Amino acid sequence: MNKVEGMPASAAPLQRIVLTGFMGSGKTTTGRLLAERLRWAFLDLDDEIACRTGFPVPEIFARFGESFFRREESLALAECLTGRQVVLALGGGAPEAEGNRALLRGTPHTAVLYLEGAFETLYARCLAQASAPHAVIRPVLADASSARHRFTQRTPLYAEIATATFDTEGHSPEVLAGRIHKALRFNIPAVKTP
Ligand code: S3P
Repeated sequence: MNKVEGMPASAAPLQRIVLTGFMGSGKTTTGRLLAERLRWAFLDLDDEIACRTGFPVPEIFARFGESFFRREESLALAECLTGRQVVLALGGGAPEAEGNRALLRGTPHTAVLYLEGAFETLYARCLAQASAPHAVIRPVLADASSARHRFTQRTPLYAEIATATFDTEGHSPEVLAGRIHKALRFNIPAVKTP
């Protein structure tokens, strides 16, 4: 697997850092920690969709179906990408739509970071999160074999849009946020270190 840990120092200064990857890759936790380090805003695409629709994600799936969720996801993505100094955690399925990938590729001053892991590791993390006190419910994980199929279909799409890829296996979100911060430090205007 190709791991790119860093970006050319000459790249244009970043205004948006987008985290992509399958469910359970730590996009939300790592993104929040990274935003804290940078003192940037943190946005989670699922939360933005919940705000737009007035329903939490599992309820959107249950009431209106996946295609409605995907339409709202594309609209929320376009809105989030207008922000500056923003770390944005995507939902695992956001890169499936070609329009979303084109938008991510075409948005200037934006790094898309792929948080990578093996299906077994990520699936096990999701199962653990589903039975944790503040359970994270993911409707698309209801069936393990279709979840694996989605993983296989999506892996090349994550790689296609990625500016850089970070291996999440055996790394805590704290460690990952630190590695990302270090890798991007030359591309972030006026980084304010605590
Ligand atoms: C989904 C991932 C979820 C959420 C929704 C669908 C997917 O986000 O958007 O349940 O299709 O992979 P996370 O990747 O943050 O769990």
